[in-house]
Formats: sequence, structure tokens, C-alpha cells
Amino acid sequence: MKTNKKTGGLAGITAGETELCTVGKEGAGLTYCGYDIYDLVDNASFEEVAYLLLRGSPPSSDELMRYKEKLKRMRDLPGELKKVLEMIPENTHPMDVLRTGVSFLGNCEPEDKNFSDQKEVADRLLSCLPSILLYWHRYHKNGIKIDLATDEDSISGHFLHLLHGRSPSELHRKTLDTTLILYAEHEFNASTFTGRVITATLSDIHSAITGAIGALRGSLHGGANEAAMELIEQFDSPESAIDGVKLMLKNKDKIMGFGHRVYTTSDPRNSVNKKMSKILSEEKNDKKLFAVSEAIEDLMWKEKGLFANADFFAASVYHFMGIPTYLFTPIFVCSRITGWSAHVIEQRKNNKLIRPAAEYVGPSLMKWPSKN
Ligand code: COA
Repeated sequence: MKTNKKTGGLAGITAGETELCTVGKEGAGLTYCGYDIYDLVDNASFEEVAYLLLRGSPPSSDELMRYKEKLKRMRDLPGELKKVLEMIPENTHPMDVLRTGVSFLGNCEPEDKNFSDQKEVADRLLSCLPSILLYWHRYHKNGIKIDLATDEDSISGHFLHLLHGRSPSELHRKTLDTTLILYAEHEFNASTFTGRVITATLSDIHSAITGAIGALRGSLHGGANEAAMELIEQFDSPESAIDGVKLMLKNKDKIMGFGHRVYTTSDPRNSVNKKMSKILSEEKNDKKLFAVSEAIEDLMWKEKGLFANADFFAASVYHFMGIPTYLFTPIFVCSRITGWSAHVIEQRKNNKLIRPAAEYVGPSLMKWPSKN
């Protein structure tokens, strides 16, 4: 069966309304609740962006202080969830750990039947996703049950502290914070739409987020940052990268971290990630990874007119901060939880079951074969 070119993958179809985000809109680019992404990266913290998405306007300094204190208080996990995380096998992909973790948390702390605590649940998830991920990671990799209470005021600092067992440098904390801002929201992408479809049935927020994590996991979506890392670390030099990628293109392979369904000439998040990757490569005195990435970026533009998306340089950024590759897509979850939850709340404000129609292309009506 051939994909219908007009409706394949719902490309170009407007499937609903949102006040949360514009993606690639002429004259606007990427905005969250009316604020340009570059303005947010330069002037806001991830917690301020989370507050903006979940409450619709930026926090005052008092509100921000209280919000950060609240998120800090919500970091610990129920004992039952810690036990479940200890039981999840070591070789599980951490995206599956997060999927199970969120679903199980929904058993321990279910959302109110009339959704009156939806913002509390959203804040709880925002606060404790790094704890779920890194409790499991450190338990299985280092054999220790880490203390989930750190002194770090920010989610980025808390994440890096739990991962490495010490307070991060300000450069690393700020860099992770910036990638969290960049990943926070992106309109009706596949995982967000999944979450909205689940929400529209009047299901609970844990179900919507669990489904969204499942959608984000794939390499055509969030999984691309891990696939991009696997690509760039194969090559020893820009020259070998050029030869290797040319061969992949000849074989019609997809080059992960390139192309986009909505953007046509560039992804506005890429220039920020690329700049951070260069700064960290200089800090690490790395002569290879950034140069290889840049060579692939140039080649893809020249050969295919395809540009690097947010995931491509995010890969080297995370690698330079000592983050294992399999935690890259889970970091995306720790950020996108804000956008997903904001969409759950928005969907509920003016809900209608999402149930599109399909064009039938199967056989015409037949008689069931007779048993005699
Ligand atoms: N590498 C090589 N070729 C690519 C490509 C890539 N990353 N992305 C698109 N193309 C090519 C396709 O092969 C196709 O060529 P064809 O017309 O000769 O068959 C054409 O460009 C259109 O691609 P298609 O996959 O149909 O576009 P889409 O809108 O459905 O896909 C993506 C968008 C993001 C899924 C796609 O660009 C992709 O798979 N990228 C890699 C995964 C990735 O980085 N995902 C993260 C997105 S933020």
C-alpha cells in the first residue's frame, strides 16, 4: 500500500489550536507563549520557562523563588517506586525506565478524578523525572542507592549532581539548562500529539505522559540525538566522516539529526546548540567530535539541502559534559514534560475527542468462505 502523498503522516494538516507555541511561522520562528526562543535562552532559566508554559505568564521574582523551592521539595520518590526501579533490568533502555516510572508513579500518586490537581502533578513530574532516571542509572551502574536530595537550586544542577555525584561547573549547569529550554515545547510534534489524543479521551495525565514517552523514544523523533551520537563517534576525522556519510547517502540511509517535518531551511535551535558544542569542545580540548559534526553538517547541506536539527549538535554537547549516550533522549523527556503537561491542560480546557477518519483502500465486500 502506498502512502497518500497528500495526507501521509498528516503533513501540513492543522489538527487543532494552541496558544503555547509557534513552529516555523513566518516572522515568528520558534516561540513559547509569545516569547522568542532566543530571548528565553538569553534571559530566562528552565524553571521560568516551565512556569511560563504551565501557567501562561512569566513568574515574578517572588513566584520564581517559591516555584524553585517547591520543585526542590518534590524530588524524592516513593519507596515502592525505588523498589520497582531496582528491579528493572540493567540492560533496559532508560526511556523504558522513564515510561515505567511515570506509569508506576500514577499508581502511587494518581491524579484526582476531576483533574483539580493537574498542575501539581505536572510540577511533581517535572521535579522527579531526573530522580527516577538517575536513581535507576546509579543503582545499576554503580551499585548505590543515591540520596535524591541535593542542594542544587536548578533542575539542570540537580540532574548533573545526581549523575556525577558532585556539583557541576557553572558552564555545564548553564549549558544543560539551555538545552532544556530548547527542548521544552514544539507544538503538535508526534509525542505531544500522542499526549493530546490520550487526554482527549478524558484519561489521566500519567497515561498521557506515558504514551508521549513511548512516542518520543523512536529515532525519527527524540531518539535522533542518540542516533546522531552513534553516527559522529564512528569517524576519526572530518575527511573520513565525509567519505562515510557520502556512502550512506548513496545507500539511501537516513542521516540522523538532519531534516524536519515543519522547518524548511533551518532549525532555530541548532545555532544555539552548535555554539555550545564549540565552547565545550574547546574546554575539553577536543579536536575531533566538533570538527566531524561540522563536516557532516556542511556536507548534508551541500549534497541534500538538509540542515541539522536540534538533535544533531545536542549529541556532542551532552557527550562533552560526560553524559552517557543512552541518557540523551531521557534528558529530552525531563524537558518536554513541561510542553506535554501544558498541552494536557490546554486540551482539557476545550476538549473534543480526537478521532480522525481513514480513507479505506482494502478489498471490496466479500462473502465469508463457507465451512462445507
Ligand atoms: N537523511 C537523509 N535523507 C533524508 C533525511 C535525512 N535525515 N531526512 C529527509 N531525507 C530525505 C528522504 O529520504 C526523502 O527523500 P526522497 O524524497 O528522495 O525519498 C526526503 O528527504 C523527504 O523525507 P521524509 O522522511 O519523507 O520527510 P518527513 O517530513 O516525513 O521527515 C523527518 C521528517 C524528521 C522524519 C526526517 O527528516 C528524518 O527522518 N530525519 C532523521 C531523523 C531525525 O533527525 N529526527 C528528529 C527530528 S527533530
